[in-house]
Parts: sequence; structure tokens; C-alpha cells
Amino acid sequence: MQIIDGKATARTIKEEIRAEVDAMVSAFQRRPHLAAVLVGHDGGSETYVAYKIRDCEEVGFRSTLVRFEDDVPGNVLFGKIDELNQDHELDGFIVQLPLPDHIDEQRVIESIDPSKDVDGFHPVNVGRTVIGLPSYGSATPYGIVELIKRYQIETTGKHCVIVGRSNIVGRPLSILMSQKSINATVTVAHSRTRDLEALCATADILVAALGSPGFVKAHMVKEGAVVIDVGTTRVPASDTKSGFRLKGDVLFEEVAPKCSFITPVPGGVGPMTRVSLLTNTLKAAKKNIRH
Ligand code: GUN
Repeated sequence: MQIIDGKATARTIKEEIRAEVDAMVSAFQRRPHLAAVLVGHDGGSETYVAYKIRDCEEVGFRSTLVRFEDDVPGNVLFGKIDELNQDHELDGFIVQLPLPDHIDEQRVIESIDPSKDVDGFHPVNVGRTVIGLPSYGSATPYGIVELIKRYQIETTGKHCVIVGRSNIVGRPLSILMSQKSINATVTVAHSRTRDLEALCATADILVAALGSPGFVKAHMVKEGAVVIDVGTTRVPASDTKSGFRLKGDVLFEEVAPKCSFITPVPGGVGPMTRVSLLTNTLKAAKKNIRH
């Protein structure tokens, strides 16, 4: 059994990005510039955005944090998005989700210029991904595919079962895994899937992305399977500085001994998700994708 070290892989990719940024700056090009819009004070969102800003610093990007209180009027937020869309000094930006109830999240996603949508959430980028055109890929699916490639995991003809059909993980990952560079045969399972446990046990590659801590147990995993755990549920903990701990969707202790490869939580998929945002921002700065 080999543990897939997302943290170390993310560090390697960050060094690669840093080298590219250094080369750009040496050639008198502007540093890549990412902005993050944060509405309100949700603890999870605050943490994620702080990490994203720190990641930018580590690789030499410029970053801008735009903050609003959670009662921000919709027109103010949309006005800011328009401004960011038109800012020629800015390569890409994200609006951290979730947003307060009075703001229509889908409208926010669609108001971002697709050429600056480094989250890859805009329907134009999702559509480009579906038909295999260059695009800003959704961060978690791209992070997972990068791990699979860098660990040289055999995927051709393999049965990949993805549990979870969210727009930001399960569904886009199913598209990537079935594309010609990966060649897996994909089943997307969800809360209404019949005999879910038996289906999971048929997977050569099992991706748990349902947000239910410890859902995947040893009897649901085939001997020698590759298990990718996307779960990051925050549970209270008295022995950590932050007062919480991240729990994956896989019961690691009993599942790991059966696997050929497995991602831990934390330190597996999470760090790779953050790196995908940097990769997309670098692509945006280099104008690698024409919309
Ligand atoms: N909330 C949780 N994950 C994400 C993400 O990847 N991007 C944004 N914008 N919000 C999120």
C-alpha cells in the first residue's frame, strides 16, 4: 500500500510554478495576479481564502483580497465583479462560496468573465472541459487527475466509481476520468444509487466525494483498489489549535491495508485543490487559453 502524498506533490508543483514566475519576472513580464472575494466571516471560508493568499505569496504571485460584510447588497457585489472583470492588471479571480442566501450564487458564477474564472465554475469553462478543449478546470478534479498522473497510476480500462455528483467534484471528475488521456470506465454513484456498497466494491479506482465522514468502510473496497478521499468535513476536536479536525469520507485505518494507493485526509486531495487554482492563474497570466 502506498500513501499518495498530496502535500509533497503540491510542494513540487508550487516549486515548478515559482520557477516559471521567476522566469516571467526576469523577462520583464508582470507577476501573475489573483484576487479573492470573501463575503462575510464564515470560519471555513476565512481559512480557505487565507490559504489561497498565502499560496500566492509562496509562488511569487501578486494577490488581492476583497472583503464584504455578509449583508452586502447584490448590486455592490456585482459592481465589484464587473470592475474585476475589466481590470487589466488582474489575471483571474474567485468569489469564495458559499454566499449569503440573498445572493444568487449561480448568477455570481455566470457574471465572472470566463477568461478570468480561475475556479473553472463558469458554464463556458465547464463546457470546454466536457468537450476536451483547453479550459480552467475545476480545482479538485484537476488536482486528483494530477495526483493520478504523477503517481503513474494505471487507469486505462479501469472501473472508476465516483460517489457524489456535485458540480465542483463528482460530475467534472467523471468527465476527466473518461477522457482519452485517462481512459477509465466511469460510474457516477449518488444518494439514490441501488446497492451502493456492492458497487463500490467493484471499483478499481474509488473516489469518495459525498461529504459523509467515514462512509467508505473496508468491506466496500476491492483488494488492491486505488482510493481517493475527497471528504473534508470539519469536526470539533479538543486537541487541536484550531478546535477542529478534518475528517475524510473514508475510514482510513481499516481501508488503507486493502489499497494499492490511498490519499490521506488531511494531506491528500486538499493541497492539490489549492495548487490547481495557482495553475489556472498561471495559465491566465500566460494567456494560454483563448475564450
Ligand atoms: N468553496 C469551497 N470550495 C471552493 C472553491 O474551490 N472555490 C470557491 N470560490 N469557493 C469554494
